Amino acid sequence: MSPKAILRAPLERIESVFDAAFTPALNPLYQLGALGWFFYWIVAVSGIYLYMFFDTGVEQAYASIERITHVQWYAGGVMRSLHRYASDALVVVVMLHLLREYLLDRMRGARWLAWFTGVPLLWLLFAAGVSGYWVVWDELAQYVAVATTEWLDALPLFGEPIARNFLHPSALSSRFFTLLVFIHIFVPLAMLFVMWIHIQRLSRPRVNPPRLLALGTLAMLLALSVARPAVSHPPADLARVPGAIDLDWFFLFPLPLHDHYSGYVLWAAVGALTLLALALPWLPPMRRTPAAVVDLENCNGCGRCVADCPFDAVTLRPRTDGAAFSEEAVVDSDACVSCGLCVGACPSATPFRRRSRLSPGIDLPEIPIATLRERVLDTAGKIREPVRILVFGCRHGVRLDRVAETGTGVMVLPCVAHLPPSFIDFLITRARVDGVLLTGCRDGDCHHRQGIGWMEQRVGGRRDPYLRSRVPRERVAWTWLGVDGEARLRKRIESFRETLRAAGPCRRTPAGTKDEVGRPLGSDAPAGGR
Ligand code: HEM
Ligand code: SF4
Ligand code: SF4
Repeated sequence: MSPKAILRAPLERIESVFDAAFTPALNPLYQLGALGWFFYWIVAVSGIYLYMFFDTGVEQAYASIERITHVQWYAGGVMRSLHRYASDALVVVVMLHLLREYLLDRMRGARWLAWFTGVPLLWLLFAAGVSGYWVVWDELAQYVAVATTEWLDALPLFGEPIARNFLHPSALSSRFFTLLVFIHIFVPLAMLFVMWIHIQRLSRPRVNPPRLLALGTLAMLLALSVARPAVSHPPADLARVPGAIDLDWFFLFPLPLHDHYSGYVLWAAVGALTLLALALPWLPPMRRTPAAVVDLENCNGCGRCVADCPFDAVTLRPRTDGAAFSEEAVVDSDACVSCGLCVGACPSATPFRRRSRLSPGIDLPEIPIATLRERVLDTAGKIREPVRILVFGCRHGVRLDRVAETGTGVMVLPCVAHLPPSFIDFLITRARVDGVLLTGCRDGDCHHRQGIGWMEQRVGGRRDPYLRSRVPRERVAWTWLGVDGEARLRKRIESFRETLRAAGPCRRTPAGTKDEVGRPLGSDAPAGGR
């Protein structure tokens, strides 16, 4: 087992506990990026409020923050505490978000941009937090200012050491102090810009947590702000060394390291870590699968693949082959992660077509639809009576080979939504199996972002291409479990088998039967297609 897989096991267990406590839809571990945005906005709004009452000068800064904290404790004081605690919460969710994306290997392919921009985001986040401690100009600010400038002076960036500004009271000019305040405003703005780039390669990025989760976390931050308001240390005095200091460990944990290691060693260490982090998306074990390919002969430009791609890797452009359709699909192979959601969405990806014509508008070279049809038929054919179940899953869920047995066949796909719903129709209406069970990642945390959501909507008839109504719904089931759900999957298979047993054996729909739009069953034409 790889070290990543070993570390993933406790993560999976914690996620299961959170699923039970919060429900998958409200599990904060699946909403870390969205919570990051939410905390950012709280910090921004509370920061704007504080700035309205803040005086920028060296002499005035401390007194103005004292007024905000104590005179207007009911508004300014709460805002100050919210500003502090939402910033700390932002550090927590961002660190967990980073750890999770790393352990789940969600940084390859199209995700490289999100990962790559995440690294400078970390820098900006810490720069914003540390500069926030300067502007209060209390003893903590004095300690932070001296420690950070001494650290910065180890770099050959400045003509003369900037730590000199803090040698004695007369050395600190109001201009320098105004620069610090400017940094504390500018860095969060730069951060917002990088956060925007961060999500550019993702379609429908989740930047808002579910309302209940947002309200719950806001209520917790407010309660903490009232119960334990953020207050200042005694005012800074450059003539004295600060006394005992209460550090904010979320932001300031690197500063005490400076007491033990030289600035050069620390810069070398963070520089090396940053470079390593930036390179991670391209380091082994990197698995690059060929991107989806479009076959213009079978593409009518309907745009379903564009709507369903989770990484905005497919677009429509004006037709180039003179066919009677106005547009055609085109894949950006750099952005494609070969998840197959587009294939599952394409109306021409149907097993009802004759084998010679089984080339859909868009397909995965690694496992083309024609090969998938052969494998499905082969696996279904090997399942022995009495109740035949075919389970479709993905590489990111339960290891399906462990649940295969005489009455249960298994098929592993890049993502469960790679399976066009017409395959389920084909299997059941032709009585190849008695039931189809779909499984995959955990509910709320699909590895391919939208795979399980799209699949549920297609089977539920809410998204094209939908599973036709002629397929008895008791013969189709799904359960979203993640890698540690083997025992639950076994139970689900057994309960599904009971349902199927009660429904009786699946019968082949008689020849000549029409579907709901009047076409004979087994028609070559794709559902809702051209
Ligand atoms: C202020 C800090 C950050 C915020 C607000 C933030 C926010 C987000 C959001 C909203 C998403 C989209 C989630 C989705 O829709 O599935 C996302 C995705 C992502 N983030 Fe961050 N992020 C931050 C920092 C980081 C850092 C430090 C890293 C790692 C170095 C990182 C790595 C990623 C990756 C790899 C994805 C793609 C995830 C996927 O496709 O499943 N992020 N982030
Ligand atoms: S879903 Fe299929 S037919 Fe529609 S645009 Fe995409 S490739 Fe073409
Ligand atoms: S396989 Fe299709 S859906 Fe998946 S990333 Fe590539 S183009 Fe998008």
